[in-house]
Amino acid sequence: MKKALLTLSLALTLAPIVKAEAPVEQLAEEARVQVQQFGGALKAAVKQGMEQGGPVAAINTCHLQAPAIAEQHSQSEWQVGRTSAKLRNPDNQPDKWEQSVLESFAKRMASGESLATMEAFSVENGEFRYMKAIATEGLCLGCHGDKLAEPVANRLAELYPADKAVGYQEGQLRGAFTLVKTLKE
Ligand code: HEC
Repeated sequence: MKKALLTLSLALTLAPIVKAEAPVEQLAEEARVQVQQFGGALKAAVKQGMEQGGPVAAINTCHLQAPAIAEQHSQSEWQVGRTSAKLRNPDNQPDKWEQSVLESFAKRMASGESLATMEAFSVENGEFRYMKAIATEGLCLGCHGDKLAEPVANRLAELYPADKAVGYQEGQLRGAFTLVKTLKE
């Protein structure tokens, strides 16, 4: 009983502070929807590119369309993108927070947590930040695996001379979706 009262008075004290912004869990739910839409659009573009023109043509799809798709899905409130500890596109460079989350994802995976549901979020400096792990799938190996076809390797070397995003196996942590929402005052 005592404990319940304490919880209640704590909740009442905190309520005005928490109410000022949408509850964090609600923001995380919004972020999950954004990730599903953005991730779905990306995967559809890669699949279509592969089916229509094979992997080399699909590289062009990713190269040109991935940043454009990210742009399209970044509405006024949400910014969406991808990052990784082993980058292909240097524009996807992680910042400090992203770097630390990528490191924690790697540790969480090593201790047995599934990548499928792995996420992290935080409110910092008036921003809600969210990351979701991206696992390497069979579909990805043609461009991120350890046995790239020669034309694929050549095209990647032309476009990304500092490419580190190769040598992956199915089920490994390829990177993460990264989202930011600016919170209103
Ligand atoms: C046809 C080749 C191709 C396939 C297949 C492919 N990718 Fe990529 N990937 C690329 C290219 C090219 C880029 C760089 C484009 C960009 O995002 O600016 C890239 C970038 C990325 C990035 C952004 C971080 C970075 O390294 O720059 C992630 C994460 C990623 N790919 C994950 C995946 C996953 C997961 C799959 C499978 C579901 C996949 N890719 C399949 C070619 C491919």
